[in-house]
Amino acid sequence: MNPDSSDEMVDHLVDFFDRIAPVYDTWAGGQHARVAGRLVDLAAPIKHELVLDVGTGTGLVAHLVAPRVSPGLVMGIDLSENMLSIARAHKTKNVQFVGMAAEHLVFRPAMFDLVTMGEALAYFADPTTALAEANRVLRPGGRLAVSCQRRSLSTRAQDLFFQGLAPLARRHYLSLPRYSSDRSRFGEPDVLPQLLGAAGFDVTRVTEMVTGGRAKDARDWTELMAGAGPLPFTLIRSLGPRYRDELEAEVEAAMASLGDPDDAFRYHHSYVLAVATKR
Ligand SMILES: C[S@@+](CC[C@H](N)C(=O)[O-])C[C@H]1O[C@@H](n2cnc3c(N)ncnc32)[C@H](O)[C@@H]1O
Repeated sequence: MNPDSSDEMVDHLVDFFDRIAPVYDTWAGGQHARVAGRLVDLAAPIKHELVLDVGTGTGLVAHLVAPRVSPGLVMGIDLSENMLSIARAHKTKNVQFVGMAAEHLVFRPAMFDLVTMGEALAYFADPTTALAEANRVLRPGGRLAVSCQRRSLSTRAQDLFFQGLAPLARRHYLSLPRYSSDRSRFGEPDVLPQLLGAAGFDVTRVTEMVTGGRAKDARDWTELMAGAGPLPFTLIRSLGPRYRDELEAEVEAAMASLGDPDDAFRYHHSYVLAVATKR
């Protein structure tokens, strides 16, 4: 897990989350909320606990945890001001949202009972430091609950589309920063527990969640995929109408090349979720 903390990459990522903030909660039929719900059930927050939600985004996890720990408190931290302002618009008494990096928590050691990281670990500039920070601020025996997308369960249609992105960027002379490809393995059921073990946690539970669906056509598909990450978002949004039509024609052809019409425009979004305790 090499740190990948170039300022350019962090800016690119925060810009992506700032821009998708208004549609984050409804993306892919509200899928992020379903993952958040599952993570909170696994984390099993209890009354009076003090909880930190790292990479809180629009606060999906934090808002579900708050009523379960009340009169305990939840702190949500994130770098995207637009995500945070959506989180703050949902008024809940015992939650606070603060701009802060996962790698530089200002909290004192052993302060929290539970740390949650919903769909965030693979986006952090330095995931190793973020996990070390989560460990530092947890009390001994405190819990960490993490969800991570399992990219290897993507469909053939997704694989084909994502393989086409780098050539598309080259064709349009776009050079975009990217994290190293080892992050795409964070959500593998054997990798996530290893990462948590190396950061000083004992993993107590690992489970999976598979969601998916089908886009109706190439326009619907490219819109959906634009929300999947900074690279597809920036590329798709930077295309003018003519190149966008061209991309959609290419997507149609790529889907037809899959042979089985049932495979066309089909996507899976799969997640691995783990709960661990601080050693
Ligand atoms: C996919 S969203 C997850 C949001 C929410 N936790 C959920 O479960 O839906 C990832 C979030 O991580 C935030 N993020 C990325 N890098 C960060 C960092 N270094 N420190 C804090 N937050 C970060 C992004 O701004 C984004 O809001």
